[in-house]
Amino acid sequence: MRFRLFFLLMTLMTAVMSLNAQAPYSLPALPYEFKALEPSIDSATMNIHYSRHHAAYINNLNQALQGNESAQLSLIDLLKNISKYPASVRNNGGGHYNHSLFWSILTPSRNTQPSKDLMEAIQLGFGGMDSLRAQMNKAAMSRFGSGWAWLYINTSGKLAISSTPNQDNPLMDVVSDQGTPILGIDVWEHAYYLKYQNKRGDYLAAIWTVINWDEVSRRYHEVIPKKKGKFDEWPEIKTFHKSLAETFHPSESGDLKPVKNRSTELVQNATALSKSKIPAQFDTKAIRDAIKLLVADSKAIDKLVKSKASDKKLTSALTKLHDTFHTIVEECSHDGH
Ligand SMILES: [Fe+2]
Repeated sequence: MRFRLFFLLMTLMTAVMSLNAQAPYSLPALPYEFKALEPSIDSATMNIHYSRHHAAYINNLNQALQGNESAQLSLIDLLKNISKYPASVRNNGGGHYNHSLFWSILTPSRNTQPSKDLMEAIQLGFGGMDSLRAQMNKAAMSRFGSGWAWLYINTSGKLAISSTPNQDNPLMDVVSDQGTPILGIDVWEHAYYLKYQNKRGDYLAAIWTVINWDEVSRRYHEVIPKKKGKFDEWPEIKTFHKSLAETFHPSESGDLKPVKNRSTELVQNATALSKSKIPAQFDTKAIRDAIKLLVADSKAIDKLVKSKASDKKLTSALTKLHDTFHTIVEECSHDGH
């Protein structure tokens, strides 16, 4: 009995291993339902595009690589050296990579935004989001036949727009505009024909409402690290700022519950700030004095809360604390830092 179980297990493991050896690439899960991107992209198009077209690229890629040691390479490394491979690997490897990227940079959430750094790069590179969209759409519209429009980071680390035919992409060593793609728009007819027929422009106008800027930003920051914030070396001031923001801002519209619940926390965080190591560039007498005042202001608020003082008194004390905090932030911005 035990032997039989062992034999069964071994057979199963061999089967799984040989399956893996034959099929290194598999269809990634779609992060939303087929209908999730409607009305921009209809459910039937998503279903066929993902379940049939993308799946076919993967099957064909696995077949093209069968018995080839390069099947061990990561897809990205394969694409970066694509000149060494036959057209079947270029077309299907590109097809697999491009579609995996495409699903990830779409989302049903309508409120994603580029990160601060990416937005700055878009501003710098194209003059703003409207202009980026217009230039991407132009690249997508002028692609004759099938292909892709790309927003990518070029080899000088700058954002750029390009278009490639078929399933090529900026990673490939055979294209003229090389770099790392962070946003790709599929302009094969299979991506839009069911709903938009020949109106590629209508499809392009609609797709911008379902772009996942969180994912595009994540891909951007994989190449371009996030710029450091002014207070990254001073976590205590960030912690204090957070509790101040979460108590002061509600008070502006008359909600004093947060400050009443969190006055002890304000004192604790102000005290921690006063004991923290002030980064050398901010370590001035004005800032040290302001931090002392911040502790005193916080203690005054805590006392008012505990003695159940009037909302009016509490609001004015909280406003004073907020002003004191901003003198610190302003002082930190003054001396050229
Ligand atoms: Fe496609």
